[in-house]
Amino acid sequence: MARKKIALIGSGQIGGTLALLAAQKELGDVVLFDVVDGVGPGKALDIAQSAPAQGFDVKLAGTSEYKDIKGADVVIVTAGVPRKPGMSRDDLLEINLKVMEQVGAGIAKYAKDAFVICITNPLDAMVWALQKFSGLPTNKVIGMAGVLDSSRFVHFIAEELNVSVEDVNAFVLGGHGDTMVPLARYSTVAGIPLTDIVKMGWMSKEKLDSITQRTRDGGAEIVGLLKTGSAFYAPAASAIAMAESYLKDKKRVLPSAAFLNGEYGVKGTYVGVPVVIGAGGAEKVIEISLNSAEQKAFAKSVGAVEGLIEACKKIAPKLA
Ligand code: APR
Repeated sequence: MARKKIALIGSGQIGGTLALLAAQKELGDVVLFDVVDGVGPGKALDIAQSAPAQGFDVKLAGTSEYKDIKGADVVIVTAGVPRKPGMSRDDLLEINLKVMEQVGAGIAKYAKDAFVICITNPLDAMVWALQKFSGLPTNKVIGMAGVLDSSRFVHFIAEELNVSVEDVNAFVLGGHGDTMVPLARYSTVAGIPLTDIVKMGWMSKEKLDSITQRTRDGGAEIVGLLKTGSAFYAPAASAIAMAESYLKDKKRVLPSAAFLNGEYGVKGTYVGVPVVIGAGGAEKVIEISLNSAEQKAFAKSVGAVEGLIEACKKIAPKLA
């Protein structure tokens, strides 16, 4: 059986970490693409030279030519620019939209059967544009945000309660922005919903509220600390979980930016919802019931994503 092939479009901070994780997990051979000459080959060579010490065995290559992604099973897109302090994800829209056009054309030409995971921000609008520019089916193009946002929520909860992250499960719905919706009711510690944890007096309502807000601001907190770029370890780990679920047909239920065709009363937009990821790509959107407050917060988040999509259509009329 031929080895799987993973193409990484963008070989910067997240791209390099994706390559390392994919290689360590032996998910397949890795191709690092970047417009900046030498970045892909340099990182490929460096990671390949770490293989003897670490004991993994995959091929790594770097390139600036789209033809080298030919036949990729998975394409993970981080091409574009990250945030600097003071910028919101939305500030990246215009520049990264142009990048998505080039990337979409490259994927359409050389990797039209791939499962495509977009990470570039502003995420929900970029994955929408990438699907349009590439012309791939909507179930084969998905955005990474919810796994990351949920992981951040889990980390903060586990740290606060002084329990293992392994026993915490958290759920974040909606767009990957300031309006994202961390759902306490569907987030649990060893099966106990956070709302019950508050009732039990294990965590105060105020603390839960501040953790929820810190989750929303999770990306900005790291931008503020790093100053020269945005988070990359956790975003890369999150996308790798999605790629692994596809490649191994694990059918994990992962919060992802998926194309909605009427689910949650939303049509034609990508937004963060629970999705079954397996060999068929985004196989199924799980519709959980929302109470009126959650519904309102979700609608606000969808509205914010739709606003960005409208902005994309103005910049690139062919997307309309
Ligand atoms: N085609 C391919 N690669 C490109 C293009 C393009 N048109 N334009 C830029 N790049 C490359 C850059 O050369 C750089 O190596 O994309 C890479 C981006 O890497 P970083 O600047 O290190 O950014 P990173 O932290 O990896 O984040 C990438 O993911 O989370 C989002 O907001 C983040 O949009 C940003 C993206």
